Amino acid sequence: MLQVNLEPPEAAVLAHTEMTYLDYFPTYIAFYVKVPAPVGGKTIVTDNLAVTRALSKGGGHCALGDKLRLLGVEFSRHLSCELVPRKEGTELQSPDPLQYKTWQDTFSTSDRDVAEQSLADSGAGTLSWLESGGAVWRSTRPAFSCYPSDEVVGEIFMSQLFAMHCAGNSLVGSVHEADVKSLADAGLLPYHSRWGDGSEFSSEEMAAFNELHQTSYSEELELVSGDMVVLDNFRWCHGRSPYEGNRELFVAMSRPVGRTTAYTPAGV
Ligand SMILES: [Fe+2]
Repeated sequence: MLQVNLEPPEAAVLAHTEMTYLDYFPTYIAFYVKVPAPVGGKTIVTDNLAVTRALSKGGGHCALGDKLRLLGVEFSRHLSCELVPRKEGTELQSPDPLQYKTWQDTFSTSDRDVAEQSLADSGAGTLSWLESGGAVWRSTRPAFSCYPSDEVVGEIFMSQLFAMHCAGNSLVGSVHEADVKSLADAGLLPYHSRWGDGSEFSSEEMAAFNELHQTSYSEELELVSGDMVVLDNFRWCHGRSPYEGNRELFVAMSRPVGRTTAYTPAGV
């Protein structure tokens, strides 16, 4: 079981299904609340099945669903080379508030060849190196997977496209929309998502993703100390609101499975 503490408290973690920027992800994810935040920090869950219906024939966002099926989604992450102490004590954070994880930490090595090979072996994308010593990790993935459920046979939307878009990171608030594409092309955004053909999501498309992930099909959970929630990672997105104060929440994942799809997005 791991403690959830990577994202800064002031940043919202937008709704997402776990590790679906990869083709290998957990079937279940569980959260145990040891200490709830005194202010904020609510857990948010979103029904992927309802989102899938909205993105399918007869749904309100059918055209967007068709585009997702055709192009897939490109994910990128800018991983810094070195972290420095953010505060006195043990917590480490990059001097740049937009970056909070190193490539060494991400791949559990300080050897570039080993990091590249681990991605090549798992088919999890590519790594390119920057003059700063940092790296850019890119991968393109379908936005849907076949849902291995007894009650539902067929595809289900499951993606981190909304949570990994730079506009969703409140720490990237100073980046002008017009600069997003050039920063994304250079790999200098801490993380980002866009269409599988490299084009950016339009503001209308982002508004639709916001509705699908954060409003129409979501609910906020009031969790107290000692509560544990187990989510079907196919069925439910999860996220959390910004918080203040101490918050201790632990996560565990189980039954990793490979993505299966009945189609091949053109961008993949
Ligand atoms: Fe997560």
